[in-house]
Amino acid sequence: MLFSPVTIGNMELPNRIVRAACGERMADWEGRVGHKMLSYVETLARGGCGLIILGHGYVRRDGRLTDNETGLDRDDQVSRLELIARQAQRAGIKVAMQISHGGPQCRPSVIETTPVSPSGVEIKKTSVVPRALEPEEIEALVGDFARAAVRVKEAGFDAVQIHAAHGYLLTQFLSPATNLRDDEWGGTPEKRRRFLIAVLEAVQEEVGPDYPVLIKMNLDDCIPNGIPMKEALENARIVSEVGVAAIEVSGGMVDSDKGAARRDIQPGQQEAYFRHLARAARKVVGCPVILVGGLKSIEVITEVLESGDADLVALGRPLIREPHLPLEWLDGRQGPAECISCNRCALYKDRVLRCESLILEQQEEENA
Ligand SMILES: Cc1cc2nc3c(=O)[nH]c(=O)nc-3n(C[C@H](O)[C@H](O)[C@H](O)COP(=O)(O)O)c2cc1C
Repeated sequence: MLFSPVTIGNMELPNRIVRAACGERMADWEGRVGHKMLSYVETLARGGCGLIILGHGYVRRDGRLTDNETGLDRDDQVSRLELIARQAQRAGIKVAMQISHGGPQCRPSVIETTPVSPSGVEIKKTSVVPRALEPEEIEALVGDFARAAVRVKEAGFDAVQIHAAHGYLLTQFLSPATNLRDDEWGGTPEKRRRFLIAVLEAVQEEVGPDYPVLIKMNLDDCIPNGIPMKEALENARIVSEVGVAAIEVSGGMVDSDKGAARRDIQPGQQEAYFRHLARAARKVVGCPVILVGGLKSIEVITEVLESGDADLVALGRPLIREPHLPLEWLDGRQGPAECISCNRCALYKDRVLRCESLILEQQEEENA
């Protein structure tokens, strides 16, 4: 089943393994990608996954997480992105680009201004106190997301993914823990989801009905007073009704315990830690559901797919370490991913995306 074809929107995928968006941190200061990203995408595309989703492309300059994040806020970034899309497609692989605004997780030292959020709720882990957005700024941001999606389409990507998970700006609006507004952008479930729906509709309007729009969203914030399951499922149902090609189910905010979205796990029992959320989502949405989070072994993945709890699976950290893992599984490899969930790949925020453990191991071998 893992290696059976599946359709997402108008995309025919050869198998059900998605490369989960992981910020590549390979762009220059102006957000333009270059040869590093080209060769990385080539490696990923040859590795056998069915769909590549590239991580965090910032829709506005104050939404970038690092100085080397991919930018989608200017037209002069598009020509380089075209090369990236073509690189994947040459290998016969579909490629999507994620559009995002980091909100209060952006560091003031990087964006050189105060990070923004719905209500100015402090991020405890970083002590950042963001600034609450004015209503007209929210309207303007809707347009920024839509223009970023147009750049993704113009560059020739097969799809765009809206990032509404992990405590970035869109999640901040969805969560009652971080959206304390009592105007038209908060105060009730309907108003909390208004920004996401406005972004989705604006994106759809600009890219047209046939272009696949995916969403990654939290069904559990993994914090006290986070989004109630009922509300999160209603959000999923509504975005599916508005018309997304697929929903990737995730969870966690920056202040959640144990990283939440990317937990330290071992193969076996702790794998697929958001499976219950995907199962619940699949009952209420009309589009394919992608499960992400701690998937490491082919047995668990196959069982998840066969049980019907998800239509596809997305792998983040395992493919950072072993981009060719899907191909090896297809060729009969039985063992789990070598990734040890140490999260060192996420620790060095400004460093190019890579498996730091693998580098350390290689250095130790050289020094031995
Ligand atoms: C280094 C790193 C960067 C990430 N960047 C992104 C990102 O840009 N967008 C996103 O939606 N998730 C991002 N994630 C989260 C992953 O997509 C995924 O949800 C999470 O790692 C759990 O899946 P895994 O256990 O397969 O790694 C990142 C994770 C890591 C480790």
